[in-house]
Amino acid sequence: MENPPAFAQVLIAWQQNHGRRDLPWQEWSQQRRDPYRIWLAEIMLQQTRVATVIPYYERFLARFPDLAALAAAPVDDVMVLWSGLGYYARARNLHHCARRIVEEHGGAFPLDVDVIAQLPGIGPSTAAAIAAFAFGTRSAILDGNVKRVLCRHFGVAGFPGSHPVEKRLWALARSLLPHQDMDIYTQALMDLGATVCVRKRPACDCCPLRRECVARREERVHELPAPRPKQPLPRRTTSVLLLLHGDRILLEQRPPAGIWGGLLALPEIEATTAPLAAQVAENYDCTVESVEPLAPLRHAFTHFQLEMRPLLCRVVPAGSQVREDRFRWLRLHEADKAALPAAVRKLLRQLARVTV
Ligand code: ADE
Repeated sequence: MENPPAFAQVLIAWQQNHGRRDLPWQEWSQQRRDPYRIWLAEIMLQQTRVATVIPYYERFLARFPDLAALAAAPVDDVMVLWSGLGYYARARNLHHCARRIVEEHGGAFPLDVDVIAQLPGIGPSTAAAIAAFAFGTRSAILDGNVKRVLCRHFGVAGFPGSHPVEKRLWALARSLLPHQDMDIYTQALMDLGATVCVRKRPACDCCPLRRECVARREERVHELPAPRPKQPLPRRTTSVLLLLHGDRILLEQRPPAGIWGGLLALPEIEATTAPLAAQVAENYDCTVESVEPLAPLRHAFTHFQLEMRPLLCRVVPAGSQVREDRFRWLRLHEADKAALPAAVRKLLRQLARVTV
């Protein structure tokens, strides 16, 4: 559907038959619209579902029927009515906002969407929704649901939270606005995103826009919108010691908690300034005869990637040997059968190839 008014016309017609028409904050008669009520509902509906909001909205209005009542109340009374709804900064901002409207706008809710967007706790999408519902203003909304609808319908690739994709979606949302019925159109977009074009298992067969939907045509409904790109795993580096005496290697049992808990692994060297030979003598009771760095090995855990830098040290144990039980000298060919983490087993196989 290239023709923007056609997109809006289809949605407007659909909203009147299939959209939500009797939510407590909806007022379809222009004369009776109260921006205070609409603003309150839109703030409560940020990050909260309709069914959760309804009883809070009704209790709040019973206690604070208009903006003047809210502005005159102590903030603690507002917090009491908000308790349980979550995201409490919304309630503090709401109260702050009511006082600002009294002080700076003589108690009348501002009409200009750009002025509304400057008030505390009101971003551009919420400001546009308030202005569209309260005054019929022609301004675009772009919340998470609307982003999903637009990404699918127009086949917009890329993560919608990224700056360039978001910029494109704002431009698209503005280009689709109708010249009348802004309240119905805005509600239609919200309703379509919340009831039909939902994230999982969308009801495409019931969608009024299904014939022109790019995602549906190209069978990409489940790929769009693109998910947030995965952050690369943080990387940790550790130097591990392959202390080799003849064909025996020194392994150390790991403490029960933490990665590789209880398994036999390679000793790790501390990143200190102490020379390697001194650390090996002190911690493992061995004299180092030669040191050879081997190729590093990477291993992915769920939360990080470990890069092991192996140092092959040919050593001679001092007469007393290492005393603690957690240390074992195993023959390389026996070590392969021991309880080793996969990464250590891989390193030891590499070592067996180097040393034979
Ligand atoms: N979510 C945000 N605003 C809404 C509204 N006015 N109706 C239903 N859901 C919404």
